[in-house]
Amino acid sequence: MKIGILTGGGDCPGLNAVIRGIVKSSPEDVEILGIMHGWKGLVDLEYTVLTDDDVEGIHIIGGTILGTSRTNPFRSKELSEKLEENIKKLGIDAIIAIGGDDTLSVAAKLSSMGYNVIGVPKTIDNDVSNTDFTFGYHTAVNVGADAIDRLHSTAKSHGRVIIVELMGRDAGWITIEAGLAAGAHLILIPEYPMTLNEIVEYVKRRMENKGYMIIAVAEGFKPTELENIVGDKSEIDAFGHIRLGGIAHYMSEIIKERTGYDTRSVVLGHLLRGGTPTAFDRVLGTRYGVHAMKLVIDRDFGRMVALRGNEIVSIPLEYAIATKKFVPFDYYKLAQIFFG
Ligand code: F6P
Repeated sequence: MKIGILTGGGDCPGLNAVIRGIVKSSPEDVEILGIMHGWKGLVDLEYTVLTDDDVEGIHIIGGTILGTSRTNPFRSKELSEKLEENIKKLGIDAIIAIGGDDTLSVAAKLSSMGYNVIGVPKTIDNDVSNTDFTFGYHTAVNVGADAIDRLHSTAKSHGRVIIVELMGRDAGWITIEAGLAAGAHLILIPEYPMTLNEIVEYVKRRMENKGYMIIAVAEGFKPTELENIVGDKSEIDAFGHIRLGGIAHYMSEIIKERTGYDTRSVVLGHLLRGGTPTAFDRVLGTRYGVHAMKLVIDRDFGRMVALRGNEIVSIPLEYAIATKKFVPFDYYKLAQIFFG
């Protein structure tokens, strides 16, 4: 049996643990092709045969030894035809696709066309539905919490408002958990917009009482009246958000202008995605990889591995991409207790 494995979308700590889990748990008669740069490698026929030696000790290394890209072959007839042609040319019996919603949507499409596909959910954003956690998320939360911890002393020493931006285009998981862990005084996430007036009120109250403030804001957060305020539409991306790095700077300017307090902004961005995974993410990635290989051996295709409680299960691939997993209101309400 010959299987192809690939990693697509943004990289994520724990990807190499999944790859190692797949390779180490594969029976001897299974040949594993590591497809380079996600679906792009299948279109361009870029791959390498993966052996036990290739995956030795890689679970502790960040990123992905296979490289990644955001290529979605089903956006072009030419690319999707090439993809199908190459799957046949390589004689691939099954594909394990490790990725977020876009990568998994290609996996689900191929599965609906009759190909043998297994999905492994990946994103630091933790917004893939039907799984409790995606690997990489805990690492991102830890890095974010550590960074916010460090901002407290400098904000306090200078009596400043520091706005720290964390990744999360659609969901605020990283921001709410890093913010809670590190005691941010206001947490702004895409799921629960706030008006600028409300934000300014929080700042005034906090600054009058305590003299410094940390605001954790998710990249995808939009104040309610954003459209009216941002004049230059080139600052807004295809998703209707201010571009990565934009919201923190924007909030910093607005808060300074409306309150007179000294403000600074910090964008954590790709720092959250780089470097070595936490023990939790190494183990989760390993368990996902081993379970994905088991599904291949059992010929239980069209499934995505998932975490439910402490158990690794599998669900139909299409469930994973049907919706996103957002921060529930009860959780946000809990965070609100610590605002101000
Ligand atoms: O992987 C998801 C994510 O981390 C988002 O939070 C963020 O918007 C995006 O990736 C950034 O992607 P890129 O590395 O392509 O700029």
